[in-house]
Amino acid sequence: MLAVYASEPRPDDPLEALHVGERTEPEVPAGWVAVRPAAAGLNMHDVWTLRGVGLSAERYPMILGTDAAGVLDNGDEVVVYPVIGDPHWSGDETLDPHRTLLTEKHQGALAQTVVVPARNVIHKPASLSMSHAAVMGTAWLTAYRMLFTKSGLRPGQRMLVQGASGGVSTALIQLGHAAGFTVWVTGRSPEKLALAERLGAHGVFASGERLPAKVDVAFDSVGQATWAHSMRALRPGGAIICCGSTSGSAPSADLQRLFFLQLRVEGSTMGTRQELVDLLAFVDQAGIVPEVGMEVPIADAREGFKEMLASKTAGKIVLTM
Ligand SMILES: NC(=O)c1ccc[n+]([C@@H]2O[C@H](COP(=O)([O-])OP(=O)(O)OC[C@H]3O[C@@H](n4cnc5c(N)ncnc54)[C@H](OP(=O)(O)O)[C@@H]3O)[C@@H](O)[C@H]2O)c1
Repeated sequence: MLAVYASEPRPDDPLEALHVGERTEPEVPAGWVAVRPAAAGLNMHDVWTLRGVGLSAERYPMILGTDAAGVLDNGDEVVVYPVIGDPHWSGDETLDPHRTLLTEKHQGALAQTVVVPARNVIHKPASLSMSHAAVMGTAWLTAYRMLFTKSGLRPGQRMLVQGASGGVSTALIQLGHAAGFTVWVTGRSPEKLALAERLGAHGVFASGERLPAKVDVAFDSVGQATWAHSMRALRPGGAIICCGSTSGSAPSADLQRLFFLQLRVEGSTMGTRQELVDLLAFVDQAGIVPEVGMEVPIADAREGFKEMLASKTAGKIVLTM
């Protein structure tokens, strides 16, 4: 089968490890199902895998991809839930110490077939195209949990999204707008800020620009480059919800501001299967059309990765099979 895979860890030159080629069709273990993806989303996580972050050298070659929407052998249309945990674990899957994400232990979804435990497929709403459904499982699920499980925001309150055009950022903007929050966004170019406005941002600002008022919650996936701004943006008692550190993971903790203003800093990772079910229902009911900025056939996967590495994202990048 055709697949997009990482041949080896390449910390300094991730594109050198990227290949599109033939891989062996996977066996389907008992209790697992084969999904034939129609579309699959790219995520920064795939770049980390190419760089060798999160899995040991002996796990390569590894098929990339944590996101997909496709068809089961019985014809059902499904979305893949990419968190694979201990089958005996009960409760929040993201807290299972033995959980892995597709591509960390099991082969990923940028392929003509991906196999997952039967509980890891969820019915796809008819209103979502395969391409739109293919971006739900990682960036959108992460944004959903940050917003609705972690933040404590109430409709009418003000949120700040650091980064305008990325996968997590665009999901936060579209979900936050639909949920009735006031959405402010920072971005690195006028084009990216225009995109944020088109997706529903109520206020847009250059990265690091002083804001006209404090916010209740800042959502930060950028890390070092935006952390100080996120801290300064909060009202007393406000919160930063952090899911990533693209630009570096060691910003100043700004402890005086943290304790004096009684700020809350909370980490967030992926989401539960139930949160993905709820996300799909919300997107369906609210009529949200997830922003896909680039769609290319699997054979041209390299073009999608180049755009992501060059920060030329404008929403999600999707490969079609
Ligand atoms: N914990 C989890 O479960 C989880 C899940 C999904 C993603 N993540 C992490 O979250 C991060 C974002 O993922 P993604 O898929 O959304 O990536 P992406 O699509 O490549 O987006 C990157 C975003 O980061 C912003 N950015 C990057 N460098 C910046 C800098 N120096 N200054 C200001 N903004 C900067 C970009 O802002 P502009 O729009 O202004 O260019 C863009 O919005 C990654 O680190 C990823 O690993 C974590």
